[in-house]
Amino acid sequence: MFSRHSHLVVPKQTSVLNFPATMSPPSTAIVYDQHGPPDTVTRITKIPPVEMNENEVCVKMLAAPINPADINRIEGVYLVLPPTPAIAGWEGVGEIHSVGSAVMSLSPGDLVIHAAYLSGTWQTYVVEDQSLWYKIDKNTPIEYAATVSVNPLSALRMLEDFVALKPGDTIVQNGATSIVGQCVIQLARIRGIHSINIIRDKPDSDKIKEKLIKLGATKVFTESELEVKGVTNLLGDIPKPSLGLNCIGGKAANMVVKFLKQGGTMVTYGGMSKKPITISTTYFIFKDISLKGFLLQEKYLDEAQYRCSIDHLLALVRAGILQYELSKPLGTLSVLSRLEPTLRMWLALENHYWPQRTFV
Ligand SMILES: NC(=O)c1ccc[n+]([C@@H]2O[C@H](COP(=O)([O-])OP(=O)(O)OC[C@H]3O[C@@H](n4cnc5c(N)ncnc54)[C@H](OP(=O)(O)O)[C@@H]3O)[C@@H](O)[C@H]2O)c1
Repeated sequence: MFSRHSHLVVPKQTSVLNFPATMSPPSTAIVYDQHGPPDTVTRITKIPPVEMNENEVCVKMLAAPINPADINRIEGVYLVLPPTPAIAGWEGVGEIHSVGSAVMSLSPGDLVIHAAYLSGTWQTYVVEDQSLWYKIDKNTPIEYAATVSVNPLSALRMLEDFVALKPGDTIVQNGATSIVGQCVIQLARIRGIHSINIIRDKPDSDKIKEKLIKLGATKVFTESELEVKGVTNLLGDIPKPSLGLNCIGGKAANMVVKFLKQGGTMVTYGGMSKKPITISTTYFIFKDISLKGFLLQEKYLDEAQYRCSIDHLLALVRAGILQYELSKPLGTLSVLSRLEPTLRMWLALENHYWPQRTFV
């Protein structure tokens, strides 16, 4: 689903003979004309006002995150790509600026996220049909509203949709420091499910472990701590996991599989190391493991399921029992540094919400 502005459509001409149309304000956007390295193909552009039809809604974007998949889309290495030129960004929150004459259920000032996947959120105003916006509780912290529909939703769906987990069961994941990973830890804890978490070796890995334990992780191991035979001995009396989640690939995927119980399933949803998954033959033969993949867009959550999942997650956020760390200092996250020139321009041009480095 692409926004009216996302493919840089030429605005319709307004005729003086017609009934006066509602025009959106001009928008400023981060655009890419072709796929390639984000620091060279992205630019800031001004988009003229758009004539809104009676069912359309104009939303002033308040915050939009930079997800790894946003970068992959700009690079052209993602499976589903909007046509170019395109406005970047796939997720975000906004406030309704104006509505068409036939729009009854949404009003200016409402806080909204998209009701379906909408390309082109890295811009100041987005015009789309009313059916594509979902009104959320105004008491929702803006940074969570902006980021709920990709990472937390993926974490929730992966815990719900692959293995029938019950309290007392165990899951294992790599990339546990990621936003998805942090959500998995907390959503598992809420359901009484143990989580075994794998992180990269770092000088401050003890501090990271502490943070994840505070979120509700049952156990956290660095990759080097798992270079041993019989990793399941490290579990003590915790049952072996029936579900594994992999967003790293390479040997970090094998570490997930090492923990799985007989007949366990590993779901791959990301490949942050950019390395192919290498799984020891032994685990297929002796543990009969299954490997599956997850892509949120292809989950085909119907509207009711989507809204129900989002409402559930945002209620947990408002209750203070689902939290994640969004701030990543520029330079430490390769994703951000690759966009830095454009983001600096954007900051210089616009004076709108910028709560964290991870947002446009
Ligand atoms: N399939 C789907 O529908 C779907 C939906 C949502 C997200 N995802 C994917 O999920 C993954 C996590 O997304 P996110 O937004 O939660 O990420 P994020 O918060 O930016 O975190 C990135 C994670 O990847 C690790 N990492 C980065 N580069 C790495 C490397 N070269 N080798 C090993 N580990 C590396 C980081 O570890 P450190 O903390 O040690 O740096 C961190 O745990 C991404 O691959 C994203 O595309 C997929």
